[in-house]
Amino acid sequence: MPHALETRVLLEHAEDPRLATLQGYKELVDGYSTLEKAYRSMEQDEVLKALEDSGLRGRGGAGFAMGKKASFLPRGDMEKYLCCNADESEPGAFKDRELMQRNPHQLIEGIAIAALAAGIGRAFIFIRGEYDRQADILDAAVLEAYEAGYLGEDILGTHRNLELVVHRGAGAYICGEETALLDALEGKRGNPRLKPPFPAVQGLYGGPTLINNVETLSNVPRIVAKGADWFRQYGTEQSPGTKVVSISGGVRRPGNYEISLGLPTRDLIYELAGGPLPGRSVKAIYPGGSSSPVLTAAEAMDLPYSFEAMAEAGSMLGSGSVIVADDTVSIPHMALRTARFYHHESCGKCTPCREGTNWTVKMLERVVRGEATPMDLDIISSVQENIMGHCLCVLGDSMAMPVSAMVRKFRGEFEQVMAAGEAEHGIDPHLVVDLSPEALGAAS
Ligand SMILES: Cc1cc2nc3c(=O)[nH]c(=O)nc-3n(C[C@H](O)[C@H](O)[C@H](O)COP(=O)(O)O)c2cc1C
Ligand code: SF4
Repeated sequence: MPHALETRVLLEHAEDPRLATLQGYKELVDGYSTLEKAYRSMEQDEVLKALEDSGLRGRGGAGFAMGKKASFLPRGDMEKYLCCNADESEPGAFKDRELMQRNPHQLIEGIAIAALAAGIGRAFIFIRGEYDRQADILDAAVLEAYEAGYLGEDILGTHRNLELVVHRGAGAYICGEETALLDALEGKRGNPRLKPPFPAVQGLYGGPTLINNVETLSNVPRIVAKGADWFRQYGTEQSPGTKVVSISGGVRRPGNYEISLGLPTRDLIYELAGGPLPGRSVKAIYPGGSSSPVLTAAEAMDLPYSFEAMAEAGSMLGSGSVIVADDTVSIPHMALRTARFYHHESCGKCTPCREGTNWTVKMLERVVRGEATPMDLDIISSVQENIMGHCLCVLGDSMAMPVSAMVRKFRGEFEQVMAAGEAEHGIDPHLVVDLSPEALGAAS
């Protein structure tokens, strides 16, 4: 049930299982009435303008204005595509899963209206391979929508068409990166492409393509139904609307909460998620999923939870996934765990990411084993600097940003862990290089 500090728009009636059916969606939230209005009586530009005026920013990570992105697609009769990004594989993110599971028709209606705004006739939902249950729910909902005439040819007798296919991924995080997603949809190995050209110009099968996140597209029906001013009553000037925030880690009530953007981060953690477990305190948070630079509790708590406030604090709102580390969490171990994830998921296409994630894992393993020296911390930081901004996609940066923030903000803790590990294990003799003249002479 909703908490008093929540503002439920996308999650309205989410607790009612009837919402997942076509009939329930129509009865509970007047579902598909906006699609009907838009397809029957609105011009493409009118729909597009409502989206642009709303200031809706992408909810998948980068926060780019959705209406503006849709406006980049060229006009004309060429084949254009819409891809809904439902890959949701970043550690800490689980809001799209809930949106698809509880209200699949809201997403389908949003896709159909966004397709109208950009003159698109073919759409795909690319869903994370492990989301079997949600993919089944979507398959059933898409079938219902086809049968009711909301999808397919000549939608509601308007001579407008939209084909929608649910495509299951094979469980690779990198396929959430928009161009890797396109390659995967085309049946290739999911590797990011060089940009430009951007997908809006040359995307799926070489055609102009609009790619948006599940939550972004789920916002579309209400914006078109109620208008940009209605949407802007929520959130802040630069972060309009509500946001479904996934909160996990050391809190009493982890879960998804829908808030008006700009709510104090303290309320998010202490009121909605119930604060840390008994006897513990918050040490640090990832404010926007595992790729966001960590903030210390002191830095984070008084910040409004918005795109701009997180950016000003040197981090990011990302996908809106808050991971809370309490005082029992070892930051060096958290850094290692983060690095291992990105190393494992790196596609290996470019050197700074492929080698940098590998080196970082190896160096952090030395840190926690007590085999590193303080100079190694500087080397770790320097490796992160050499990754950031030098890769084909931002997966490399996604490891470098949080790891470098952890080393910078918790250096003392890294040094303590190194000292404790050294006291416990001693230094591995294989790692000590003997630079004495005798040894060097023998080697030569
Ligand atoms: C490695 C990587 C993984 C990503 N995973 C996702 C994802 O699972 N879902 C998502 O919506 N965006 C993901 N993104 C961001 C997408 O590339 C893209 O920006 C987003 O889907 C655009 O939608 P939006 O504008 O509605 O946010 C990922 C980016 C990177 C670099
Ligand atoms: S940054 Fe990493 S994941 Fe992205 S293209 Fe380069 S190697 Fe692949």
